[in-house]
Amino acid sequence: MNITVLVDDFEKSSADALLIGRFEGEKLDSDLVAIDGLLGGALSAQCGLGGPQEASGKRGELATFYTNGALKVARVILLGLGKKDEFSPKVLRETVGTAARALRDRGMKKVATSLHRNVVGKKSTNASLSDAAANIVEAVILSMWEPDSYKASADRKGSLDELVLLEPDSGQAHSVTSGTERGQILGESINLTRTLVNEPANALPPAAMAERARLMATDIGLGCDILDEDDMYRHNMGGILSVSVGSENRARLIVLKHMPNPGQPAIALVGKGITFDTGGISIKPTEGMGDMKGDMAGAAAVIGAMRAISLLKLNVNIVGVAPCAENMPDGKAFRPGDVIRFMNGKTSEIMTTDAEGRLVLADALVYSIRNLQAERVVDVATLTGACVVALGHVSTGAWTNKKEWLHEMEAAAETAGENVWPMPLYPEYTRQIRSDIADLKNSGGRPGGANCAAAFLKEFVDDTPWVHLDIAGTATTDKATHLAKGPTGAMVRTFVQVATRLATK
Ligand code: BES
Ligand code: MN
Ligand code: ZN
Repeated sequence: MNITVLVDDFEKSSADALLIGRFEGEKLDSDLVAIDGLLGGALSAQCGLGGPQEASGKRGELATFYTNGALKVARVILLGLGKKDEFSPKVLRETVGTAARALRDRGMKKVATSLHRNVVGKKSTNASLSDAAANIVEAVILSMWEPDSYKASADRKGSLDELVLLEPDSGQAHSVTSGTERGQILGESINLTRTLVNEPANALPPAAMAERARLMATDIGLGCDILDEDDMYRHNMGGILSVSVGSENRARLIVLKHMPNPGQPAIALVGKGITFDTGGISIKPTEGMGDMKGDMAGAAAVIGAMRAISLLKLNVNIVGVAPCAENMPDGKAFRPGDVIRFMNGKTSEIMTTDAEGRLVLADALVYSIRNLQAERVVDVATLTGACVVALGHVSTGAWTNKKEWLHEMEAAAETAGENVWPMPLYPEYTRQIRSDIADLKNSGGRPGGANCAAAFLKEFVDDTPWVHLDIAGTATTDKATHLAKGPTGAMVRTFVQVATRLATK
């Protein structure tokens, strides 16, 4: 999709549609009054009290006015923005995304819009216009993503080809352009995450994931190191090596480095990258197993976030770490009853080979703190079915050993419009994963399963401030909304927001 800012008026711009926003119950703003004049009063005739239902400004409604040559655009479409006091960046993104999908489904290709002006209205500042443009562009890019890349091209959903933001005030065009660039970076980075999560496991074994990360990094000048299994042996990474040993596809540890201030400490984003989770010897039932191609959504979120952080040139040191492995049953596979040893020397008895995410994360957390000098860490993982039971598909669960660091994350999530809910780490959960024969066991049974998983990870961060995010319920969605059905890109926007807040100018 080609996205441009045009310092011009709607009168001169040609497009399939001119999309204009309007809050519920509000008078026509000056842009609309001008268009109303050109359309011989068609808008005001419909949009007042007693007008038709679909032109009341209710959130999400689309009222179409054909211009019959009175304007260069073929149609003017009024998008209802809902009640002004219920409006937020999140509402804006969802409303615009849903509208963009509807226009695409009606076969439109080129859409011009002055929405960024409509939503900020009279209070417009350079910053507010820039933010509105960023949200609109991000929303349109996210809304056009489809999981259908393996279909014949004739059967694939198309996309809008062109989005033009009309900004008649040349003094504000620069702000609108910079917002557009930000929105494009974030939207495309989140879509990269979604594309990776959507890939079937036969197309994206650990080595292929590492290759995609490397290509992306090389492309944008982001640092990238890939550790193979020989490197992992040297680091005594018994967690990731044990999970991987039953697979023909060798493991990789992806390290992405955004270090504008070399030599200074970094924040590590650590993502679970199980490219397929059969459960291993503790094999899962067939029903739903195919969804486990998305068990690398944490790693994909880290890769997407690192892309955005790098392209936005945020002045803060961030490293992304993604332990990638495939969990398969095999003659060489690790088994229940085994005892494995991690990079920090701790040992775990294996109760079930299906609790594999915590094993690969354990080594990656130790590596981030010891070898990458991370002074704060956050891990993100499709870790437990128990988290889905607790919070549904509504919220990511969050655990921490340091309240302030979680508060930072929650504040970022709030701004980013993502749901993150705090979960407990009582010492009883740690007691629940004590083993008779090793330091830990990798499962404490079903009760409080998401909390026990967090208690396990906590053993690998010592006093380093750490947040654990379980995205098992939020990484994918099973109904189309402003986004297609499938991967959501959960936590990418929150990570970019955390980095933005911590970046120094
Ligand atoms: N990848 C799964 C968790 C999962 C389940 C993610 C559903 C997304 C949707 C994880 O590796 C797993 O199998 N967890 C087990 C842990 C248990 C055996 C202690 C679970 O949640 O059942
Ligand atoms: Mn599993
Ligand atoms: Zn898993």
